[in-house]
Amino acid sequence: MTQITLVEGDITEQQVDAIVNAANSSLLGGGGVDGAIHRRGGPEILEDCRSLRASRYGKGLLTGRAVATRAGRLPARWVVHTVGPVYLPEEYEQRAGLLASCYRESLRVAVELGARTVAFPAISAGVYGWPLEDVARIALVTATEAAAELAERAELAEIRFVLFGAEAYEVFERVWRALGPMS
Ligand code: APR
Repeated sequence: MTQITLVEGDITEQQVDAIVNAANSSLLGGGGVDGAIHRRGGPEILEDCRSLRASRYGKGLLTGRAVATRAGRLPARWVVHTVGPVYLPEEYEQRAGLLASCYRESLRVAVELGARTVAFPAISAGVYGWPLEDVARIALVTATEAAAELAERAELAEIRFVLFGAEAYEVFERVWRALGPMS
């Protein structure tokens, strides 16, 4: 049974097998979570990202897709980079599907590597402007569904949502309570 947990904190400090990065399509770093992960993880991560760009991902990583690199100095084995959609209300449906795909694809990539514990940030809830409450709903529903689908194939012990600041934590906590038992 996969545990879904919510913690308030810094994703770069999470001792898990895989840490998910809210990257951009260039895979070459940025601010927010991306900046924190590269800063804390060190050059190894960017080295791997550059190799990905020089090989399979010549044009960058598409929105909604995920790819893994080593984790450098982070207390994790892998970083799973995923590109969230920028919030655009007039394209809500299509982009909400892409945000769900970030969570689903990141879990698929992590599980394929053998990760048993995975930590997620609130993808798209920062620079990309997606309303936090809606990210929480999409993230929690998608993770619960994916965990159930993966259950027979994988030993996924924990999916951890790491919220940066009390307000973000409270939003996720409230949405999680409102969703009630889904499994
Ligand atoms: N740990 C956990 N969460 C964090 C951290 C951290 N160290 N730093 C920021 N956050 C939170 C933000 O508060 C926000 O809720 O992660 C969420 C995602 O914010 P962003 O990092 O801005 O990611 P996103 O909105 O997906 O935008 C991605 O921003 O940094 C650039 O290169 C990145 O272009 C890409 C874009």
